[in-house]
Amino acid sequence: MIDLTTKYMGFKLKNPIIAASSGMTDTAGKVKNLEINGASAVVLKSLYEEQIMMEIDSITNKNPYNNSYTEAENYVSFYTRKHNLDNYLRLIEDSKRQVEIPVIASLNCFSVGQWVNFAEKIESAGADALELNLFILPGDQKFSGQEIEEIYFDIIRGVRKNTKLPVAIKVSTYFSGMADSLIKLSKEDISALVLFNHFYSPTVDLEKEQIVSSRLFSVPEENAMCIRWIGLVSDKVQCDLAASGGIYDGNDVMKNLLVGAKAVQVASTLYKNSAHQISFMLQQMENWMEAKGYKSLDEIIGKLSYKKVINPTIYERAQFMKYYSDNK
Ligand SMILES: Cc1cc2nc3c(=O)[nH]c(=O)nc-3n(C[C@H](O)[C@H](O)[C@H](O)COP(=O)(O)O)c2cc1C
Repeated sequence: MIDLTTKYMGFKLKNPIIAASSGMTDTAGKVKNLEINGASAVVLKSLYEEQIMMEIDSITNKNPYNNSYTEAENYVSFYTRKHNLDNYLRLIEDSKRQVEIPVIASLNCFSVGQWVNFAEKIESAGADALELNLFILPGDQKFSGQEIEEIYFDIIRGVRKNTKLPVAIKVSTYFSGMADSLIKLSKEDISALVLFNHFYSPTVDLEKEQIVSSRLFSVPEENAMCIRWIGLVSDKVQCDLAASGGIYDGNDVMKNLLVGAKAVQVASTLYKNSAHQISFMLQQMENWMEAKGYKSLDEIIGKLSYKKVINPTIYERAQFMKYYSDNK
């Protein structure tokens, strides 16, 4: 009997496949369907910092997001925003009522502010944990790398004051000193780091000569970033790691576990192949483990981390030199 259980954020998960935050987790019905298909936890679709701030600002009569509303428009927009927040709390409550697996709420944020108080409401609504999707693009030259990275710590500490829930931080690849930042973040009062979040990227439409959004879904090649960075830091961080990005099948899951992830989060493969893909992935994982003679994930997680592999330089640039000298 193969044991696929893993420990992540203090939960004993029945397997390492978590449904990532996306439109696939925005109703209790979809959450239930993911559980039926084998997801071991779900991260709900994110609520955005702006949505919370709009409500706060409309109550206090400062509305930096749109202060040109007429009174009637203001009422309507207030009602809509309030409705958004209430809906989000209801999504947590309904999901909790329908499923046994952990329900992780998600807030998408980029600065510290009064919105952090909302963490308390999320806890009261019954969420099992909270994931913060820190969506900070270092595109403003007024801020140094260090100043931007400070925002991460301010947000974590601000949220921490408002909830006792286990907190995960989903980060981007935009750190100047990635390993150092990840290790420092892991020493904060958090339970997990999720590597990495997914920015909509711009591309150019040559026909229209316009900047447009590039593809919505990830491609499997993106997972190389997770493999590298999880492998490099998994021996050093003081919290769990989850991989997110380009994980499409059960073999991808095994690769991320081998380098040190405790769990993986999937979104694009669910959009492309439906929630049923999770049961297929679990079967693939079991097949691989059986063929290799493994009985549990404890034997696998971190087996190929930086410290454990014989030649860790394979995680680093030195391999490029070797490749080019061998291949001219
Ligand atoms: C359509 C779509 C919507 C998403 N919405 C959110 C979101 O609301 N909050 C969030 O943290 N991540 C969101 N994500 C990112 C996913 O949670 C995930 O981190 C990312 O897509 C990488 O995983 P994947 O390669 O399995 O898609 C979204 C992704 C997609 C494709």
